Amino acid sequence: MAKPKNLIQASTVFERVLHWVLAGSCLLLFMTGLGFMFHSLSFISRFFPGGYLIMKWVHNIDGIIFGIAFLFALVAWGKDTLFFDEDDKKWFRVLGGYLWEVEEVPEAGKFDAGQKTFFMVLFLFWFTMVGTGIFMWFPIFPPALTRWLYVLHALGVLVLGGFIVIHIYLHTCGNPGTFQVMGHGYVSKAWAKLHRPKWLRDVEARRRSI
Ligand code: HEM
Repeated sequence: MAKPKNLIQASTVFERVLHWVLAGSCLLLFMTGLGFMFHSLSFISRFFPGGYLIMKWVHNIDGIIFGIAFLFALVAWGKDTLFFDEDDKKWFRVLGGYLWEVEEVPEAGKFDAGQKTFFMVLFLFWFTMVGTGIFMWFPIFPPALTRWLYVLHALGVLVLGGFIVIHIYLHTCGNPGTFQVMGHGYVSKAWAKLHRPKWLRDVEARRRSI
C-alpha cells in the first residue's frame, strides 16, 4: 500500500492481520462460550447450522486458533509491552489522566502503561483459558478437579471480558484516531505527539539517520 501523505506508519500488515485474527477468534470464543453459559443466550446456537454440537466444535477449534495467534502476539508486541518503565509508574499515579483532570500525562512510547497492563492481563488469561480449556475438552483429571477448571474458565470470561470492553472503548470512541492503527495502519503526527511522543521521537530520529 502506498504511504498516505503526511501520515506515519504505526503498524505493519503483519500486526494488523494478527490483531484481527486474535480479536476475531477471541470475540467468537466469547460469543459461543456465552451461548453455553447462559440459558437466556442459548439462541446464539441458532446461528450455527447443527446448533449446539457445531457451536461446541467451533468454540474448541477457535480456542486453538486464539491460542496460537497469541503466541504470534507475544513475538509481535511482547518486547514493547511486558515491562514498565519510569514514565509508566508516573502514568499509573494519574491513571493516564482518564479519571480526573491532570496537568500533564506522562509520555508514552509505542504503548502506554494501560495498554501494557491490558497485554499482561491478556497473557495471564490466555494461559488460564487455554490451560483450563484443554483439560475441559480432554478431562483427564478427577471430576472434582475438572469442576474447578470450569469455575476458573468462567471467572476468566468475566475478567477478560471487562478488560476487552475497556480496550475496545479506548481504541475507538474513547481516543479518536486510534482505530486507524489497526485499520489502515497510519496515524497523523498530531495523534502520535499526543499518544506516543517517545515513539514519535524515535521514528523521527531513525528517519534523520537514513
Ligand atoms: C473488535 C474490537 C477491537 C478494536 C476496535 C481494537 C482496536 C485496537 C487498536 C486500535 C489497537 C492499536 C493500539 C495502539 O497501537 O495504540 C489495538 C491493539 C491491540 N489489541 Fe485490539 N481491538 C479490538 C479487539 C481486541 C481483542 C478482542 C483483543 C484480544 C484478544 C485485542 C488485542 C489487542 C492487542 C494484544 C493489541 C496490542 C497491544 C496492546 O494494546 O496491549 N483487541 N487494538
